[in-house]
Amino acid sequence: MSGITLHLRSECKALEHRSALTPTTTKALLDAGYTVRIERSPERIFDDAEFEAVGATLVPENTWREAPADHIILGLKELPEEDFPLKHVHIQFAHCYKNQGGWESVLSRFPRGNGTLLDLEFLVDERGRRVAAYGFHAGFAGAALALENWAWQLTHSEPFPGVTAYPNETALIADVRKAIAEGAAKTGSQPRILVIGALGRCGSGAVELCRRAGIPEDNIVKWDMAETAKGGPFKEIIESDIFVNCIYLNSKIPSFVDYESLDTADRKLSVICDVSADTTNPNNPVPVYTVATTFDKPTVPVEVKQEPKLSVISIDHLPSLLPREASEAFGNDLLPSLLELKDWKNVPVWQRAEKLFQDKVATLPKEYLQ
Ligand SMILES: NC(=O)c1ccc[n+]([C@@H]2O[C@H](COP(=O)([O-])OP(=O)(O)OC[C@H]3O[C@@H](n4cnc5c(N)ncnc54)[C@H](O)[C@@H]3O)[C@@H](O)[C@H]2O)c1
Repeated sequence: MSGITLHLRSECKALEHRSALTPTTTKALLDAGYTVRIERSPERIFDDAEFEAVGATLVPENTWREAPADHIILGLKELPEEDFPLKHVHIQFAHCYKNQGGWESVLSRFPRGNGTLLDLEFLVDERGRRVAAYGFHAGFAGAALALENWAWQLTHSEPFPGVTAYPNETALIADVRKAIAEGAAKTGSQPRILVIGALGRCGSGAVELCRRAGIPEDNIVKWDMAETAKGGPFKEIIESDIFVNCIYLNSKIPSFVDYESLDTADRKLSVICDVSADTTNPNNPVPVYTVATTFDKPTVPVEVKQEPKLSVISIDHLPSLLPREASEAFGNDLLPSLLELKDWKNVPVWQRAEKLFQDKVATLPKEYLQ
């Protein structure tokens, strides 16, 4: 037996149905000798009974606070905004390493309680590549909403309505196929989609959704670094029906599209899905909108002088549209690292995460450590 107990928190963020552990990964951890405690959760996409069925111990919500100090607390999103010092090792996305507003209060709770944060966003292999990320399902969900919005705009005058999480991919793809058929009946042809960043995680998810929705291969235009090297704005974007931006932005690059390039009678483009969602980044290569949209109100219109209408989807939590598959994929990628937790202080992937935590703690202003 490993002697290690993992405790899965119930997420407290509204509408967060994803889960850091799935019944499948829980079973693998139990088989490896870990004790796994799962907080009951009304929001999680997996039923409590699915965890019970694989042999996990179910415990009431919020009991992580009183768990013995050597239990490792697993979660996905932020903890509730409170102030008490944290005594456990926490594995989660804490969003406090990039000078986000209030980062000092979030981070300082760990050193004040002698706890440790091992942040999932910065869990990287020896080449610096993330061990587990949600990109694939972000692109998959973004392309699905883009296709639905394309069809909606052809058949309705009001903006594309709010959407809620799907129980599974099959249900989403059925809806997208129906929408495409309605749109194609209006235009007489299948939509043409240009995906930039097509070789990455988000981009490959976007391409896969298009294929599974039945878009012919010739209508799925896949661009990555080689194709954008010539520098934008690109007329190929304007000539497509849908543009899905999936790049990882790390420097200033020429815009892919701008107001001037949109102002032409040749424009077919009616939907942009900015999966990268660098909305407030001054280097955003899609500078034709300024707000992050949400599942409640998925689109924002772009001020264009000519028909057709153009709208942007800029949701920054797209994988939540498919909580089951997104959790399964993320969980499978995370599992090998979780299986090494029994000796985590001597395992490079966790050592790197702890070193980063200590480095960030060292930058905390003194007044936060009292
Ligand atoms: N909206 C959401 O819900 C959501 C969810 C997950 C990730 N993201 C964001 O999506 C972005 C991409 O993430 P990822 O995991 O797919 O990254 P990734 O590194 O796997 O892929 C990025 C791809 O973009 C390409 N690329 C970079 N610069 C380019 C350029 N100038 N021209 C053409 N291609 C270029 C790269 O070659 C690579 O293939 C990140 O900014 C990430 O934060 C958004």
